[in-house]
Amino acid sequence: MTAARVPASYTPRHVSEQILAVRGAIEVERKQLSVLFCDIVSSSALAAELGPEEFHLVIERFFEAALAEVHRYEGTVNEFLGDGFMALFGAPIAHEDHARRAVLAAIGIAARAEVRIRIGINSGLVVMGTIGDDLRAHYTAFGDTTVLAARLQAAAAPGAVLISQHTAELVRGYFQVEEVAPVQVKERTVYPVKVTGLGTRTARVASGDELSPFTGRDRELAELQRGLEVAVGGEGQVVGLVGDPGLGKSRLALEFCQLAQPQAAVLEGRCQPYGASIAYLPLFELIRNACGIATDDPPDLVGAKIERKVKALELDVSLAHYLRHAFGVPAGDPALAAPDPAAIRARTFEALRRLLVALAGQQPLVVLIEDLHWIDQTSEEFLAGFAGELPSVPVMLLATYRPGYSPPWAGKSFTSQLALRPLSVTASERIVTSILAGGDLDAAAVIAERGEGNPFFLEELARTIRDQAAGEAGDIVPETVQQVLAARIDRLSADQKAAIQLAAVLGREFSLDLAAEIWDAPVPLEAQLLELKGLEFLRERHGPAERTFVFKHALTREVAYDGMLQARRRDLHGRAAAAVEHSQANRFEQCELLAYHYSRSGDPARAIPYLAVAADRAKNRYANEEAVGLYKEALSIARDLPAGTDRDSQELAILEAMAAPLAARSGYAYPELQQTLERSIDLAESLGRRTSTITGLVSLWGCRVVQGRAADAYQIALRTFALVEGSELAGQGHFALGGSAVGLGRPAEGLRHLELAAKLAGTAVWLSIGTRADVHSTAWAAHAHWLLGHDAEALSACRQAIALARSIDHPFCLAVALAYGCITHQMRQDLSALREHVGELHELCDRYGFAFYREWPLILAGCSREDETGLDLAKRGIGNLRAQGALTRMPYWMSLLADLLARNNRLDEARATLDAALAAAQDHDDLWWLPEVMRMRAAYDEEQAAVSRLRSAAQMASAQGAVALLRRCERDLAGRGARLPAPGAVPMA
Ligand SMILES: Nc1ncnc2c1ncn2[C@@H]1O[C@H](COP(=O)(O)OP(=O)(O)OP(=O)(O)O)[C@@H](O)[C@H]1O
Ligand SMILES: [Mg+2]
Repeated sequence: MTAARVPASYTPRHVSEQILAVRGAIEVERKQLSVLFCDIVSSSALAAELGPEEFHLVIERFFEAALAEVHRYEGTVNEFLGDGFMALFGAPIAHEDHARRAVLAAIGIAARAEVRIRIGINSGLVVMGTIGDDLRAHYTAFGDTTVLAARLQAAAAPGAVLISQHTAELVRGYFQVEEVAPVQVKERTVYPVKVTGLGTRTARVASGDELSPFTGRDRELAELQRGLEVAVGGEGQVVGLVGDPGLGKSRLALEFCQLAQPQAAVLEGRCQPYGASIAYLPLFELIRNACGIATDDPPDLVGAKIERKVKALELDVSLAHYLRHAFGVPAGDPALAAPDPAAIRARTFEALRRLLVALAGQQPLVVLIEDLHWIDQTSEEFLAGFAGELPSVPVMLLATYRPGYSPPWAGKSFTSQLALRPLSVTASERIVTSILAGGDLDAAAVIAERGEGNPFFLEELARTIRDQAAGEAGDIVPETVQQVLAARIDRLSADQKAAIQLAAVLGREFSLDLAAEIWDAPVPLEAQLLELKGLEFLRERHGPAERTFVFKHALTREVAYDGMLQARRRDLHGRAAAAVEHSQANRFEQCELLAYHYSRSGDPARAIPYLAVAADRAKNRYANEEAVGLYKEALSIARDLPAGTDRDSQELAILEAMAAPLAARSGYAYPELQQTLERSIDLAESLGRRTSTITGLVSLWGCRVVQGRAADAYQIALRTFALVEGSELAGQGHFALGGSAVGLGRPAEGLRHLELAAKLAGTAVWLSIGTRADVHSTAWAAHAHWLLGHDAEALSACRQAIALARSIDHPFCLAVALAYGCITHQMRQDLSALREHVGELHELCDRYGFAFYREWPLILAGCSREDETGLDLAKRGIGNLRAQGALTRMPYWMSLLADLLARNNRLDEARATLDAALAAAQDHDDLWWLPEVMRMRAAYDEEQAAVSRLRSAAQMASAQGAVALLRRCERDLAGRGARLPAPGAVPMA
């Protein structure tokens, strides 16, 4: 193509001025846009056929027409390619309806082209680079969006406009489409559709749509109805409905018009986003509706329908000529050929006015003009004049528009303006739940809050969440919402835009001082922020110490933030962090903020210490979820650092700190905890950190114990013990060995180690599983005591552990002491002590969200009740433990359940539960309670088998030294008149 074809030379002034005005601000951004590729079919054959001169003329005419269509919809031609071009809609300047504009332009081009062309359109995300003086956008990345558009163009049949599925979704209803054969793009098959004409939809909200239940606008509806009554009485009214995009102007108007129908006829005309340069656009629609003209009626028919209506209203036929002329239909009146546009316009206005007044004479009229902010000048002038006449005509002129537009009739007595406010929380939730169709109520509440009372945002957010099915109400801003907000942001000046981006980096709320410190443009920041406040992007808050600004809508902040390129964001975050670091005397007061900024800056490693402090703080408040999140963020940064001991020690420190909150949140059995511990042991060993290795091993031991891997756990305990024997850390080893030994059915060995652990640990040794060694060992020692038949010692150890935990005022230690204490009471059959401690344990676990221990009081409370509610509780607790993978002590828990089942006369289930408990004990080497399970199971055997099972149980108890369990077996045997084979063969420990 000719060299003269650079965008600056053909882009019309109104578009180029807009681009240049914002050029500085839109450098390097991510944009949602639509890309249109257009090419002439077999141009070389055409050139040969026409000869060079004629061909040149044809091509020139084609480009002129095509470019005019592109510019009509405020697109820009970015590049000429052979005998075609690529045009962008929605960039450089964002348009909320870029896809619709692109398709309208395509239809226009196809209709005007004298040559055969193909067009392909796709919509999506593109990373934009700088805009040159020639207005050409330079891209840092084209991405798939553009590739697919080009591919669709190549695949289109001559004369056809092919659009991608994504574009089709964005313009659903606005156009008629037809399916075509799928297209292969690299390895992908895509399913484009062909555009065959305009659709019936002209706006987002239309009667007949499936709409969410109308809610929360009673006051406004009542006010509109009052206006209507006055108008119907003969005193015309003008009412403006003003509100942000999506706030529900059109919907309110629709609902109102439906209610108005029996009293008044409704005529509707609509302005379009691309309509500012199309004279009479909304008025045509009024006439079309009044005369019953369909969009695809041929000109003759249009003319005839207008004439018929004019006659029916008994108006002068000459009026019809002017209306037809305005419509571009040959008018048939020679006077109209006279080139006096001003006179023609005046007559046309008069014709329109008389038509409307005549209609109102038949029946009162509601004239609804939608989206006045896009109106063309001619229509606006007409409306201004028409409004002036209304006081004596039964017409209610209702107009919708967005803030920033002021209608030409403002201030007259018969005019009023109704400003829509955000919907209430209740109304918002009603919309959201109607879309989620009874789904998750928590999600509904989160969306209702995020949607900020804007029904359009609420609907789009709810649909996105529903379709994602993941239930994450978190970060995504639906594309539709993004487009609306991005279009608003793009209309800011370069300085305002830079200011809003800076603000977006600082967060929903930020102090003016901090922002000013980072601001790097020559104009003063404060003025920009105040302008943004005037435009209702920000609110200002005067605190006692500093001035702060707040984003009015969190979504606006997110969109401004997302629109920036990574590099710019990183830079701003880095500068924000540095500013906070310098300005704050005590930086660690601000560590959450510093972590936030540094982790998003170009030097994320600097975030690690702050993240760690923030996480430690959360951990100390038992905000385990938050703590884990912060540690994980630190981990992901540390893992990207250059390999070496420094990196490894950072990772180790984070992993070690994370283990306790992870266990408290998700339970010891959690597989991620196991991986965390295994990794920290590896790192500690390779770094030669003995203490860390031991800590890691003890934790891993705890994890394997709870998972019900008793034998593995014992091996880990031995490995730990070998490392610590004789050192100041010996207590840790004794604790692990002791606990394991009790579980494996060796209470005497267990007791010895647990007592040593409590003693060696002194007072302040913390186990990496989050408890203090003396509390935990003493609580567990009670079980060993009881098994060994030392009932009084069991009770005293149990009390001692609880008292110790209370004295150090540590909720998690107390939970552990109470939990073990409850088992001790249960074994001792002291139901009143059990009930008392179960209640406290339950409340404590609930308050702090302790996993694992939370289930114990459910089961144990279940056992202390006699009826079916006890059964439900116990089953729930056991089910929860299984779901966590916490299989330790399962034989014990199941024996309690079996007992409850038996007490409720569900004997078959009781027996099956005991059988499962027997299997669980074998599978998991969970042996300490096995003799008791066998004893209980014997109750369901035939006499002979029962005695033999009881004898085996007694032998096992005896071999374990579990005197308490042995006594129970002996009592049962005696009840059956049987005895042990070798009385007194209990090896006393
Ligand atoms: N009061 C309401 N109750 C339920 N849904 C509503 C309500 N108001 C609006 N909606 C829904 O919210 C969406 C957006 O509303 P609408 O199109 O009327 O907004 P608008 O203010 O006209 O926006 P725009 O300026 O973009 O034209 C529609 O789907 C509409 O059905
Ligand atoms: Mg609307």
